[in-house]
Order: sequence, then structure tokens, then C-alpha cells
Amino acid sequence: MTSKAKDSYGSEAVEPGAETQEQDRLLDSTRGDKIRRRAYEIYLERGSEPGRELEDWLQAERELTTDADQSSNRPLAGKAVTYKALGGPEVIEYVERTVRAPAAGEVRIEVKAAAVNPADLMFRDPGWPNMTSNIVPGMDAAGVIESVGPGVSRLHPGQKVIAAVNPVRPEGGAQAQHIVVPAASVVPVPEGVSLAQASILLLTGLTAPNALQITALKKGQILAVSGGAGLLAQYAIAAAKRQGIKVIADANPADAELVRGYGADIVVERGPGFAKAIRRELPNGVDALLDTASLGEESFGAIRDGGIYIPVRGWGDKPAERGIKIKPMTVSGVLERTEWLELLRNMVAAGEIKLRAVEEYAPTKAADAQRALVAGSPRGRPVILF
Ligand SMILES: NC(=O)c1ccc[n+]([C@@H]2O[C@H](COP(=O)([O-])OP(=O)(O)OC[C@H]3O[C@@H](n4cnc5c(N)ncnc54)[C@H](OP(=O)(O)O)[C@@H]3O)[C@@H](O)[C@H]2O)c1
Repeated sequence: MTSKAKDSYGSEAVEPGAETQEQDRLLDSTRGDKIRRRAYEIYLERGSEPGRELEDWLQAERELTTDADQSSNRPLAGKAVTYKALGGPEVIEYVERTVRAPAAGEVRIEVKAAAVNPADLMFRDPGWPNMTSNIVPGMDAAGVIESVGPGVSRLHPGQKVIAAVNPVRPEGGAQAQHIVVPAASVVPVPEGVSLAQASILLLTGLTAPNALQITALKKGQILAVSGGAGLLAQYAIAAAKRQGIKVIADANPADAELVRGYGADIVVERGPGFAKAIRRELPNGVDALLDTASLGEESFGAIRDGGIYIPVRGWGDKPAERGIKIKPMTVSGVLERTEWLELLRNMVAAGEIKLRAVEEYAPTKAADAQRALVAGSPRGRPVILF
């Protein structure tokens, strides 16, 4: 044992042979004094029994370690929605796994709700064979922080939070009882919103500031948004309005008022004549088009010469026309943009984004949740509750 340990445990009580690295570890911990004192009491209670010092120290540590301390440092067992292979909804399982403790700059979250997004379906059935299988899907989580790793001071255990999650990593995605994620991808849940509702905000929401940054539109310029009644359109329209950008969007007549409510200045009728409908309202065309309905080339006519087209599901190398710049985007590179997560949270708190209704599913019904998304959710999102 080190001299430090001998002095405080009591040199007369400890045999020189009892020195171990394990005792050094216990002594070096922040609770070392308490452990040392309690270990000495245990030693006295036991009576002098040389060779049992380490046992005394470990018992003292156990007695002084709370459940929270234990869990923050240890892996946790839990269940996760998992794709056992690529394919249809039949590959979805709900299986046991272990989740590691958070490392520096990370937090571990007890997930209460995880939204089901179109991206989840793409990872299950990407249309090409080389995608990793055994993936835990989900890019949107809401829950309670269970523990934080070293260096995390902005967030604390017990706090209700939402997180944007990258499923393509060893730890997997959001649809699990526990997840470990970078603290930068996590913000407190907006006030007055349930965890289930809050779980539909971040992944799709991050796409909105991302798209606006890509367009670099200035106040007074014009953004068109196809699929105006959709979730991404709702967030993008609200984010554009915040920057003073004018918005024109399409919708079925029955949804026109809804889309105006998101903040669209002009709403045109949805249909095959999208580009013509835009030009009727704005003969010079728009500065940029965010194509959330994936209308593709047929929508180019809406964009002015040299304007910007943003596809949301990849593009390949198909050519544009009239100097239009095609700028595909992916959200995976911006999941740790904490300032954008805070922006979205503030927009909900300010009523600029009104979170939609959610349909709730048990984790064992994750396949049904995905089927419901494909069938067309009535202006909401399926959410898995844990
Ligand atoms: N690249 C990225 O980083 C990223 C991030 C998030 C989302 N996305 C993608 O963005 C797309 C939209 O996502 P979302 O969450 O907003 O989905 P969503 O809520 O289903 O919205 C899509 C909207 O488009 C409408 N629509 C479909 N076909 C149309 C057509 N021919 N003309 C006009 N409107 C049409 C839909 O109408 P109904 O309501 O009548 O069905 C729906 O309102 C998805 O493809 C998603 O994968 C990409």
C-alpha cells in the first residue's frame, strides 16, 4: 500500500503485504476519504484479520456507492429496435443489448419516445446491397438524461431532453431504451411540450436551417417549398419566415390555410403544373426551391435562371438547366449543430413551430409504425414509446 493509505487507514492496522493497486484506485477517487474511514470501521468490526483489507475496502465502496453512481459508470442492459437484415418490415426486431457508459463529451439518455422518420425506412431498404445490417434505427429521441460523461456541464442527470441521433455508428440510433450520444446533439425539451411530441422536432427540423444555409438567401428573396403541408415544409417555412425570406408553397386546397398558417406568403394548388403555378404568381421565378415532395426536374421551371434547387433524397449527376445550381443536402453532418437545436427549441417555445399530433406505438409494434408512415400519417408522425 502507498504511504498515503497506510497513514490514514492506520499503520498499526494494515499489514505491509496488503498493498494493492485496487486500494490505490479507491483512495484516489473523490470519495477516497469516506471509503478509507468506512473500510477501517469494517476492519475494526471484523476484528483483526490480516489479508482481508482489500475486501474491507471494496465493501466500503459498495456501501457508499449510490445506484446513480453505479449506473453512470457501468454498461446498462436494455432493449432496442433492430434491423436483423435489409428488407421489408419483417426484418424489424426488438432485442436485448448493452449500452456503454458515456465517454467524455457524451450523455446517456433513458429514451421515452423516438419518432419514426422516412430516413428509418431508407436504412432498412436502401435499394442497394452494401448497407450495414443489424442497425438500430431512429434519428430523433426524447427522454431523460441518465448520466453524463466527463466534461459535460450544460446538461445534467434527470433533465428532460431531445436528441438528434446518427444511427450509422456502432451505438446505433434512437429507437432504444438507452442511448449514448454526443452532448452537442442534445438540448432540453421545449417547455410545455410532451416528450412524445418533442421527439418529432429535431431530425426534420435540422434540415430547415441546413437548407437555408445552403441557399444563402437574403431577407426579401424568395424560397419555394414543394410538399407544403409536409413536416419538413412546415419547419422550413417557419425558419425562412424568421429570416425575412418570402415563401411560396404548394398544397391541396383543403390544406392551403394550414400552409399559410406555417407562414407561407403564397400558396399555389398542388399538382403536375407546379412550375407553371409558381410562374403565374411570380413570373421571374423563385431564387431557390426546397423540393420536399421530390418533384425533380419537372419543378425546375419554377426557379429563376441561376437559382438554386435543393433535392432532399440525393440527386446523382443529372444535369440542371439555365445555370440552376443543384445542392443536395444531408442532415447527418449537422446533428451536432447545438445552436440549430436551440433555435428549433426556441421556435417551439415562441409558437413559431406548432408541433403536430403523434401516433403512439409500442416498441414491439415498430413495424406497424413504419407501415403507418408509408401509408401517410395524417399530418403527424408515428412515435415509439419506451
Ligand atoms: N436530406 C435530408 O437531410 C432530409 C431530412 C429530412 C427529410 N428528408 C426528406 O424530405 C422529404 C419530406 O420529408 P417530410 O418529413 O416532410 O415528409 P412528409 O411529412 O411526408 O411530407 C411530404 C409532403 O409532400 C407531399 N407530397 C407528396 N407528393 C407530392 C406531390 N406530387 N406534389 C405535392 N406534394 C406532394 C405530401 O403530401 P401528403 O401529406 O398528401 O402525403 C406531404 O405533405 C422525405 O423524402 C424525407 O426523406 C430529407
